[in-house]
Amino acid sequence: VSEIARVKNLNRLQIGKYEVETWYFSPYPKEFAHLPILYICEFCLCFFPSPFMLSRHRLRCNLLHPPGNEIYRHEDISFYEIDGKRQLGWCRNLSLLSKCFLDHKTLYYDVTPFMYYVMVIRDSAGCHIIGYFSKEKECAENYNVACILTLPHHQRHGYGKLLIEGEIGSPEKPLSDLGLLSYRAYWSEVIVELLMEWDGDISIDEVAQRTSITHADVMNTCITLQLFKHYKGQHLIVLNNAVIERHEKLRKKNRRRIHPENLRWKPPV
Ligand code: COA
Ligand code: NA
Repeated sequence: VSEIARVKNLNRLQIGKYEVETWYFSPYPKEFAHLPILYICEFCLCFFPSPFMLSRHRLRCNLLHPPGNEIYRHEDISFYEIDGKRQLGWCRNLSLLSKCFLDHKTLYYDVTPFMYYVMVIRDSAGCHIIGYFSKEKECAENYNVACILTLPHHQRHGYGKLLIEGEIGSPEKPLSDLGLLSYRAYWSEVIVELLMEWDGDISIDEVAQRTSITHADVMNTCITLQLFKHYKGQHLIVLNNAVIERHEKLRKKNRRRIHPENLRWKPPV
């Protein structure tokens, strides 16, 4: 694809009750790419050139949640697991939608190697997509996270951290600026939480093992937070007041958390 074609094409999307501005180029078919607003079915993620076409589609489309198994449920938040190989069309639509907000040079248009974990908020109208992360199925480096996204209209509500908390493994590098900020915020929170509860010394390895955060990510987080102290010829991890204060403040925010006991949630039979 030429550079010209990579210039941001769409302007706005309408999805569910939200109208959002796009950030980057996304390879929607040419005939859709230059409309003032592209209308997206929030359940099947198919796209339409007009509200009329979308409403006609809604009469036929009976999807009310992502086309996979609901594997997590807590309060009004659920996760669905979707196999890219089994839900080609849906996952391609998800890729097109998310490319609008991802700066990556390449789009994962071949969705078959990936599993998608889609977070939704449920209400009486259905399951509304908030964001997702994807993982490569066959991945030597323990199931790496390929992509993470919170749709813009749901950003800055703590959902990114919730997505990160729901995943296991290290994200694929390089991260975007926003990705890095969010992972850092999450890593800091988890590491500091562990250190607050821990008595005595703890090694980087131990922190990495207990938090499932990679050694390198633990190192970098501790450096950023200035937690390393040189003491009697040893490097120790020591909390400082600034970090403790910030952590207490965060705790008071009382944000949503993943409740592991609700993972592998099975619908009642
Ligand atoms: N500016 C400054 N800090 C930000 C930020 C922004 N725009 N967005 C996130 N952060 C930091 C903050 O520290 C925030 O915590 P706070 O709100 O308590 O201060 C923390 O990250 C987590 O924010 P959260 O609300 O949990 O994240 P989110 O739901 O907004 O999602 C992304 C974060 C990265 C998933 C989202 O920005 C996104 O989808 N971006 C586009 C796609 C992308 O870049 N993905 C990563 C590819 S590697
Ligand atoms: Na980006």
